[in-house]
Amino acid sequence: MGLCFRSMLLLFFLFSCATFTSIEAYDALDPNGNITINWDIITWTGNGYTAVVTISNFQKYRHIQAPGWTLGWTWAKSEVILTMAGGQTTEQGDCSRFQGSNIPHCCKKDPTVVDLLPGTPYNQQIANCCRGGVIDSFAQDPPAHSASSFQLTVGEAGTTNTTVDLPKNFTLKAPGPGYTCGPAEIAMPTKFISQDGRRATQAMMTWKVKCTYSQFLAQKIPSCCVSMSAFYSHEIVPCPKCACGCMNNLTQPGSCVDPNSPYIETVVSARKKANNLDPLVQCTSFMCPIRVHWHVKQNYKEYWRVKVTISNFNYRMNYTNWNLVVQHPNFDNLTQVFSFNYKSLSPYPTINDTAMLYGVKFYNDFLNQAGPLGNVQSELLFRKESSFSFEKGWGFPRRVYFNGDNCVMPPPDKYPSLPNSGLRENIPVLMILISLLFSL
Ligand SMILES: *[C@@H]1O[C@H](CO)[C@@H](O)[C@H](O)[C@H]1NC(C)=O
Ligand SMILES: *[C@@H]1O[C@H](CO)[C@@H](O)[C@H](O)[C@H]1NC(C)=O
Ligand SMILES: *[C@@H]1O[C@H](CO)[C@@H](O)[C@H](O)[C@H]1NC(C)=O
Ligand SMILES: *[C@@H]1O[C@H](CO)[C@@H](O)[C@H](O)[C@H]1NC(C)=O
Ligand SMILES: *[C@@H]1O[C@H](CO)[C@@H](O)[C@H](O)[C@H]1NC(C)=O
Ligand SMILES: *[C@@H]1O[C@H](CO)[C@@H](O)[C@H](O)[C@H]1NC(C)=O
Ligand SMILES: *[C@@H]1O[C@H](CO)[C@@H](O)[C@H](O)[C@H]1NC(C)=O
Repeated sequence: MGLCFRSMLLLFFLFSCATFTSIEAYDALDPNGNITINWDIITWTGNGYTAVVTISNFQKYRHIQAPGWTLGWTWAKSEVILTMAGGQTTEQGDCSRFQGSNIPHCCKKDPTVVDLLPGTPYNQQIANCCRGGVIDSFAQDPPAHSASSFQLTVGEAGTTNTTVDLPKNFTLKAPGPGYTCGPAEIAMPTKFISQDGRRATQAMMTWKVKCTYSQFLAQKIPSCCVSMSAFYSHEIVPCPKCACGCMNNLTQPGSCVDPNSPYIETVVSARKKANNLDPLVQCTSFMCPIRVHWHVKQNYKEYWRVKVTISNFNYRMNYTNWNLVVQHPNFDNLTQVFSFNYKSLSPYPTINDTAMLYGVKFYNDFLNQAGPLGNVQSELLFRKESSFSFEKGWGFPRRVYFNGDNCVMPPPDKYPSLPNSGLRENIPVLMILISLLFSL
């Protein structure tokens, strides 16, 4: 019975491994998630136009964190950016063909735009700008925070909706790779509703670019793993060894930080100076920047309780506005969440098994860098379903994402097992039986 179940689990595991690569290209828990870039021409200027460009994040839980987005494109002809507000290009490029005082903001064929920082003078701001390129996810925060805008005046461009050329080859970095953008497509002109809601104006012309995320493109190695424990088992199931890389002192000495080193402060601050975005992790067998621990804590008559702990092992990252997405069939009957916010995500209308958990503002929405403060925790109380049982690892999640990235789970045959239900527990009994037989 136990054996049979385990081989089924193994089969399931092999199957999920086999399908993993094909699933990765899109996100099963947010199948329509996308970032849409709206390019709204507000006025024609005689030798070009003024446009407001808005990057809207329609992903439920994947946000763009510091140091923020970078947007690039290639002009179709010899367009130049005369002025900008609410954003800037990283390089001006060669504007030597212009003279006098009206030197363009950017003459590059393939400009790269970044957001301005908070505290930018008012005369350089526009609505929804200047948050250092940080864009919140769609489900976590008010919609205004899930978009970012800048304004640009383009010269040497078409001056009507039939002569203007759409820019090509959009690239979105957030801040690293991961997004793929489609071509710009002409869309219905955007309508802007006045603040009192009594009048709508509309863009002269609008085009849209859709960008989608793939974890596979974003990074070859995972950044998060799951460990497990349960009140009914004395074992703690750690994150899989080498889940995010292996500790290798020979080929890469100092690839991680020893938390017991007496010089830890010095080591960390020296390594941080190398202004690098790569994680600088604590030395562990799994080497992940983030670990999510799921502990099945208590069993009541009608309820059961789980404790979730998120630990940060990265010395180079404070996570603001972090979120966790968990898939478990009992989220249908979640009764209470302590000290995290909860939102039900229903990727498919009939299934309500996926939840987004995120921090409470000013309390635990900030996950501090590795160290004594680098963790947040919460407890979840579920009402048992009729078919409830702790058997077969049922109490553990099917899928866990941290900030939208898939966390590596222990293999199903390693899940904490109920006493007397698993092969491992049966072995001693078998051994005793066999030795009894032989001693007869
Ligand atoms: C982007 O996602 C939103 C929200 O899911 C959806 O309404 C919209 O149609 C999507 N856009 C495109 C171009 O697919
Ligand atoms: C261009 O503008 C004309 C009216 O000025 C309108 O009829 C036409 O649909 C517009 N075309 C596009 C592609 O927006
Ligand atoms: C598009 O952009 C990428 C990266 O910036 C570049 O490698 C590629 O050559 C560009 N393609 C075109 C057609 O401009
Ligand atoms: C690598 O270094 C860590 C900490 O310094 C140590 O615990 C570990 O045993 C070392 N691993 C190997 C393979 O030498
Ligand atoms: C994280 O925040 C703490 C406290 O605000 C700060 O001391 C530390 O330098 C920050 N670390 C990083 C990597 O930004
Ligand atoms: C999913 O279940 C939760 C908890 O019972 C409930 O609050 C939420 O409204 C449900 N969502 C949907 C879409 O049914
Ligand atoms: C659990 O949730 C489902 C779907 O919302 C509902 O049909 C069922 O009655 C609930 N079970 C309990 C024990 O509350």
